[in-house]
Amino acid sequence: MGVALLTQVSRRCFRHAIPLAVLSLLLLYLCARSFRVVSGCRSWAQSCNPEGPPPVQVRRQSGPLEAPKWKEPPCEGPQGVLGRVMEPFRASLNPEGDVALSQYLAGWRALVRFLTPLGSIFAFATDEASAKVTALEARVHGPEAAHYSSLAAMAAWERRAGLLERPGVAPRDPARSSGSRTLLLLHRALRWSQLCLHRVAAATPGGPDAGVQCGDAYRTALAPHHPWLVRQAARLAFLAFPGRGRWLGLACPGAGETEARAALARAAATLEAVYNRTQGLLAERGLLGLA
Ligand SMILES: *[C@@H]1O[C@H](CO)[C@@H](O)[C@H](O)[C@H]1NC(C)=O
Repeated sequence: MGVALLTQVSRRCFRHAIPLAVLSLLLLYLCARSFRVVSGCRSWAQSCNPEGPPPVQVRRQSGPLEAPKWKEPPCEGPQGVLGRVMEPFRASLNPEGDVALSQYLAGWRALVRFLTPLGSIFAFATDEASAKVTALEARVHGPEAAHYSSLAAMAAWERRAGLLERPGVAPRDPARSSGSRTLLLLHRALRWSQLCLHRVAAATPGGPDAGVQCGDAYRTALAPHHPWLVRQAARLAFLAFPGRGRWLGLACPGAGETEARAALARAAATLEAVYNRTQGLLAERGLLGLA
């Protein structure tokens, strides 16, 4: 996401904030590296983080407690980590072909909760996404709430009211972005999250690690919208990226690897459906070019 969303750092603060971010990321990376070396762990992300949930456990078929019949993994249920992300995102796809904003934002809140424990490297990203979600929520529940029920309603209203930025021109104060622009920034970050989840789920053992894959996804989805310094900061962040085992363990604690990967793939597909619809709606309205 917005290692990514770092772009949205106010342009005015840009000159100071970005070098600081690069420096912080570099320090984090070096700490992570030395920790890995000192503790002798093969993977920092998988087995060296004492606070995270345990890595995916491979279940054995011989134990007397194994239930042989398949059912939906608990992580996809209403109380599960992925279930909580997927349920509101699915519900945001309303029957009229529009995207319901309050459900979309609820999905984002859950997605941020899922990504946060993946490490301090995501703190920038998740804090920025939270700020965008909060900004849009303020409109969804604000005095103009009637115009912010869905993407189409919001775009129509902001155009009528003259609230839209000119394409390609960043607003002077990013905190006062139109709802449509804030949504566009979340939308690009959703693409990155979706590609990243999909690649982590689909990866073959012994293939490129999660950092490399999410780095590729970043270059596809977000890098074209980011200045050089932000891209360098992101590149460093991906070096200290959590390993696949940690992702799967967080997504489906206690599940077998196959099960966890399948669940993650279904979550990625849900995000893709939401991304596709949002993309279509934004494109029809000529809103993909809002800085
Ligand atoms: C999203 O759109 C792409 C390209 O149009 C398509 O290939 C893909 O199947 C769509 N995915 C979903 C989940 O609708």
